[in-house]
Amino acid sequence: MKNTVSTIQKQKQEGKKISMLTCYDYSTAKLMEEVGVNIILVGDSLGNTMLGYEDTLQVTMEDMIHHCAAVSRGIKNILLVCDMPFMSYQTSVYDAVVNAGRLVKEGHANMVKLEGGKEVCPQIEAIVKASIPVCAHLGLTPQSINSFGGYKVQGKTEAAAKKLLEDAFAVQEAGASMVVLEGVPAKLAKLVTEKLHIPTIGIGAGADCDGQVLVYQDMLGMFTDYVPKFVRQFASVGEVMKGAFREYMQAVNDGTFPAPEHTYGIDDEVIEKLY
Ligand code: KIV
Repeated sequence: MKNTVSTIQKQKQEGKKISMLTCYDYSTAKLMEEVGVNIILVGDSLGNTMLGYEDTLQVTMEDMIHHCAAVSRGIKNILLVCDMPFMSYQTSVYDAVVNAGRLVKEGHANMVKLEGGKEVCPQIEAIVKASIPVCAHLGLTPQSINSFGGYKVQGKTEAAAKKLLEDAFAVQEAGASMVVLEGVPAKLAKLVTEKLHIPTIGIGAGADCDGQVLVYQDMLGMFTDYVPKFVRQFASVGEVMKGAFREYMQAVNDGTFPAPEHTYGIDDEVIEKLY
């Protein structure tokens, strides 16, 4: 069954948890499709995991479109959400609508995600008016790393918690269909989840959100530059890959790869004529 804005909303109403993972390529998307993940996020975290940047600020619209289109070719039923990169929506409402449109037309996204609360509500309203569903993103929003002065949990003081709750109501009112809560105390995320009628998706926000999202290289144990507290490594794929790379090198070195079954034949007569 195709996951849509309505099916995700229904999952919240029925208390069925929503599974979301990041993904940036066709082959991985196909694997997620086979197991029935609800939502893929082509996150601007691709700047870290795929492109090796220190933060997400250098990621461009072209990067997002390129990866989103690749993912879209590997899925049929998963709802595809694509991040709006830094400075593709903060500059003006006009830029926000044009760039959200590009992610849908060229990247084949079903929904776009942007970071921020009240300050981006005019952009959310305009994108939704253009018939593009929006996912908001509150709490530890990585595009604001320079204002935060580091990757720090957000909403811990009374004033910050009140602001986060107000922002959550504001993005819902502006028309967002979903909200990611990142790096937020679990009890605050629970309260936001209970107060909102749109689904909340947590990352470092406790178990009471309507759904969860993780960066797939983090949960597979492939990306070890930095492992945040909220990550569970569900596998050690990095170790499996290194083992396979080592075996391959060994087989190349000792001549056991390629074996006859990996090799194309030719009639001896043809070869002999060439000597
Ligand atoms: O870019 C990303 O992967 C994200 C998730 C961490 C929510 O925004």
